[in-house]
This record gives sequence, C-alpha cells and structure tokens, in this order.
Amino acid sequence: MAILLGDEAPNFQADTTEGPIDFHDYLGDGWGVLFSHPKDYTPVCTTELGRVAALKDEFAKRNCKVIGLSVDPLSDHEGWSKDIEETQGTALNFPLIADPDRKVANQYDMIHPSELATLTVRSVFIVGPDKKVKLMITYPASTGRNFDEILRVIDSLQLTAKHQVATPVDWKDGDDVIIVPALSNDEAKEKFPNGWKELKPYLRVTAQP
Ligand code: BEZ
Repeated sequence: MAILLGDEAPNFQADTTEGPIDFHDYLGDGWGVLFSHPKDYTPVCTTELGRVAALKDEFAKRNCKVIGLSVDPLSDHEGWSKDIEETQGTALNFPLIADPDRKVANQYDMIHPSELATLTVRSVFIVGPDKKVKLMITYPASTGRNFDEILRVIDSLQLTAKHQVATPVDWKDGDDVIIVPALSNDEAKEKFPNGWKELKPYLRVTAQP
C-alpha cells in the first residue's frame, strides 16, 4: 500500500555506511529525512550527497537526522564516499543505506519503473518525532534537489506543529505567517496578543510567533 502523509513511516533494519541500523531507533525522538538517490558514482548524486554533508549543522540545529539510500551495495558506497569528499569538499557524515535487494526502496515506493526501471528515483520523506510522514517529494533522476528547500519545509513543519499557524507561499524563517482558519478571532486574540492584519476573514497575517 502506498504511503500517505500522516501515515507512520514504515520501520526497517538495513546495512549502512555507519553499520546496521533500525530506522526508528536511528531517528530517536527527533525529526528525520530519508532520501533516495538513483546510483553511486553518478554526477548529480555526487553533488547532492556532498551538499547534505555540508548542511550537517543546519539539520542538527533542527534536531533532524538524515539518512540516504541507494540500491547499490555497501562496497560501492564506501568507495564512492572518497570521491564525494574529493570533489565536493565534505566527507559523508550521515549513514547511506545499501539496499541491493530493494527491500526499503519497495517499502517506500522509491522505484518508479516508467522513469527508471530498477533504480530509485530522488524521493524525500520528512518524518516527525511521532514517526509520522510529514512530507514526500519526488524528483526525477536528472534534477538535483534543493536541500535549502528541505530545510525550509522542516522550519515550517516545526513552527506549525507548535503554533496554530500555517506558512504562506515562499515563506522562510522569520517571515509573517497565517493564522489557521480553524481559530476564531476570539481565540486568536489570546494566542496572538499583538494582533494581525485581516486581508479577508479567512486570510489573517501575523508576525511569526
Ligand atoms: C546522476 O546522479 O547524475 C544520475 C543518476 C541516474 C540517472 C541520471 C543521472
């Protein structure tokens, strides 16, 4: 069955570049990003993994662990990681799952056969501390992801999990937010004592709490 937003992220055990892991144990009580890439020793993937490694502190600030996956074996991951360090300037500093039997890839529907017959596409899953899937994005093999966008979504998810707000188009940390329509004006007065700008009764904008 396909995974939908709000579902529990399926747990799995797998071999990784940092030893065997249990996915839920690895995440602990924090946030997580599970992402797949099509193949080791390929150009776009090399740049992506270097970028994720360089963003280590940004993910840590958000109490978020990252973990990558491809269907290549551990021996390839280990050899390729040297190329990532050499060409991207940052060594791998998060686990990469080796999934040669495609167990995790199939669990997470990361293989889209009409796009790539047997390899994973560029899937991203953000998992909350409750182990529920909060976001899924899928990119084709030819387009490297924008991991600043992944961080932006984590910021939004963490904010909206805490306050009764939603984040508007192109929002980034520090920008104004939207008071959720489910909150009445009387309730909003208590939660947002500094007030809001009402552009429409359903569109109330306030400073980021
Ligand atoms: C790449 O990472 O460059 C790539 C991988 C698989 C197919 C196409 C591109």
